[in-house]
Amino acid sequence: MYNNELEHHPQVSDHAVHLERSGNILIATIHNPPVNAVGHAVRTGLLAALQQAQTDPKIHALLLIGSGNHFAAGADIREFNKPRQAPLLRDVCNQIEASNKPVIAAIAGNALGGGLEIAMAAHYRLAVRGSQLGLPEVKLGLLPGAGGSQRSTRLIGAAAALELMLSGHPLTAEQAIGLGLVDRLGRNARVDGLAYTHELLAKQCGVRRSSKKVTKLADPAAQQAAIAAARAKLPTQFRGLLSPALIIDCVEVACEQPFATGCQYEAAQFQRCQASPQHQALLHAFQAERAVAKLPNLVGGTIRSFTQVGVIGGGTMGAGIAVVMLDADLYVTLLERDKPSLFAGLSRIEDIYRQRVSKKRLSVTVAAARLAKLRGTVQYQILDTADLVVEAVYEDLAAKQAVFRELDAHCKPDAILASNTSYLDISAIAAVTSRPQSVIGLHFFSPAPVMRLLEVVIPPQASAGVIVSAFALARRLGKIPVRTGICDGFIGNRIMSVYRRAAEAMLEDGASPYQIDDAVRGFGFAMGPFQISDVAGGDIAWATRKRRAVHRSPQERYVQIADRLCEQGWFGQKTGRGWYHYESGSRSGQPEAAVLEIVARERERVGIIPRSFSAEEIVRRYLAAMINEGANLVEEGIALRPLDVDVVLLAGYGFPRHHGGPLHYADRIGLPKVLEDIVTFAAEDPLFWRPSPLLIRLVEQRQTFASLNVLHSSH
Ligand code: 3HC
Ligand code: NAI
Repeated sequence: MYNNELEHHPQVSDHAVHLERSGNILIATIHNPPVNAVGHAVRTGLLAALQQAQTDPKIHALLLIGSGNHFAAGADIREFNKPRQAPLLRDVCNQIEASNKPVIAAIAGNALGGGLEIAMAAHYRLAVRGSQLGLPEVKLGLLPGAGGSQRSTRLIGAAAALELMLSGHPLTAEQAIGLGLVDRLGRNARVDGLAYTHELLAKQCGVRRSSKKVTKLADPAAQQAAIAAARAKLPTQFRGLLSPALIIDCVEVACEQPFATGCQYEAAQFQRCQASPQHQALLHAFQAERAVAKLPNLVGGTIRSFTQVGVIGGGTMGAGIAVVMLDADLYVTLLERDKPSLFAGLSRIEDIYRQRVSKKRLSVTVAAARLAKLRGTVQYQILDTADLVVEAVYEDLAAKQAVFRELDAHCKPDAILASNTSYLDISAIAAVTSRPQSVIGLHFFSPAPVMRLLEVVIPPQASAGVIVSAFALARRLGKIPVRTGICDGFIGNRIMSVYRRAAEAMLEDGASPYQIDDAVRGFGFAMGPFQISDVAGGDIAWATRKRRAVHRSPQERYVQIADRLCEQGWFGQKTGRGWYHYESGSRSGQPEAAVLEIVARERERVGIIPRSFSAEEIVRRYLAAMINEGANLVEEGIALRPLDVDVVLLAGYGFPRHHGGPLHYADRIGLPKVLEDIVTFAAEDPLFWRPSPLLIRLVEQRQTFASLNVLHSSH
């Protein structure tokens, strides 16, 4: 109805904000695809809209909306490392609030960061059902820098504002209205926004400034309690992070000081965050995760569509992979080697959904709808219509080759055949089929429904269509795909086996497993290497070590302590004992005196007099091993760029995000320093500590890993 009233008046303002009049209402549409980031052109356009609304007597109100699927997704992150260009967003927001004609924001899609700050500066807010309102700056190591901490606290109170800014999670429109962040729900931003604006004008509601709102701050004791509770969580939830602490300070200032003072304070803290290495690291992580999902220069590939997926093997990984596929609305056929294993596999899948329902993460109806797309079989003929098959049987080349022979015999010609192998050569698996161009590695991480990393292992013979389809599938599954070439362990597990060896060498030389785990956690990892081994099961790495024994050089230092534990049957959590011991059913382990005795005996056996290690040295060695192997992978072309290595470690191995990944971190501390460390360590073990040729070259050229984060051919 209001659409019919629209008069189109092409305006002189920047294209990033379209202006049109609807009767006495000026509609400003933010248009900066893909996410309507609030870049310079948008800020200028918004000021022009305000100017026009102020000066044109026929305009009585300004309605702000966004084009496409977003209101506005925040400040334009591409401008972060460039000189700031006026007008600043905080000035734009202040001018919006200062307008003497009502400004109404009608939100559809995402209003995030600076986008929500614009909406909060407006006098009234409508949100379309299902839209998302958030202040996710903390995820980039920042805080809202355009008055957002001050306005959100006044609009929804300290507790809710802290939750919004510290979690970074968006609110739905429905939650936002409950908190008083929006005033009205709608179905369509333009139509309902216009109706709401007409209504406000008819009621002569006038302007209503968020900075003046005080009702939510009426109970100072409640605000202080919320602030104290948030501060108390800092050491555990946000250990070592700068911006969460500053967000809490900003909220405190919002509760106690006038708005203008609060804004000044916020601006100063924003700048502190922006100048911090944590912000650079988190921004790198954000951008790198998006860069890996694009395969540059891949010609000739057509993306295939997926409806039916086969999963071979319903163990830990197969069951998890089946759930990932079912969650993406695909039909899944699980194939096992016999009926009892099939029932076990199917019940593993059902258990995952049962747990989600009992934890209220999923409704019974949705779980049932997903499970209705699952069927089981022990016969390969049933897979003749599958578009994709993912094999997840035991980590044994002959077993996998036998499966692929069957797949080759039964699957349709254009099916993609994938293996979830952790270490094995995909080419050797592909070689037993008549269609090696259709075979690829899809290396999911455990637990598959939770972990976002997906290593896409690309053998030389894989066709472009198969590769682009795998990347498209990853997006559908909500995974972060990283291309990797073929080597033992691909990117992640190959690096892991090197830093594990560095940890084991330190163990034999004098550090305790508990000291090493502590030091690694101190750097920001959620778990240390010995804890991880207990969670994953010591037997898995033991099997890999045995497999590699034949190729191991006699000169190589091989620490046998882990083998001694495995020989006792101490595999970690699942056996109640590993590097730690676990009280019945408990997942948190306690240090184990018997382990320290084994360690001492092994040191004696090989004639090592233990020495002490500081936490700082432990971390330096652990990271140097990681960085050096990451450089080797880039040098060998297994990883496309340093950023691919960073994403693997961030998304799959718990590398602390605020350090940006090992190669970003190496750039920050300086490559000459890393090289110097490796050369020093090499004096004890020159075979293990061999500086990567890439690291040496970059130091010689005074270059960084970042200089190699450019796109080049991947195939
Ligand atoms: N600025 C510039 N580009 C952005 C952007 C932003 N704020 N947010 C996303 N993009 C880009 C992405 O880099 C990507 O570019 P590409 O196609 O070249 O790779 C493209 O938009 C699409 O992004 P996604 O692939 O992430 O698309 P999704 O649909 O999966 O997600 C989203 C959309 C939820 C908006 C997600 O992109 C997102 O969370 N963006 C970041 C939002 C954010 O952090 N905003 C706060 C910024 S800081 C701020 O506002 C400071 C202020 O307080 C002063
Ligand atoms: P698992 O032992 O839990 O499951 C293997 C399943 O395969 C069993 O259910 C078994 O019955 C079935 N199976 C064996 N031979 C079969 C055959 N010929 N046909 C059909 N089914 C058969 O093993 P898990 O841990 O699930 O590992 C599977 C694969 O995934 C391995 O290649 C492993 O390296 C890889 N992987 C494992 C990860 C982990 O953390 N467990 C992580 C990433 C990859």
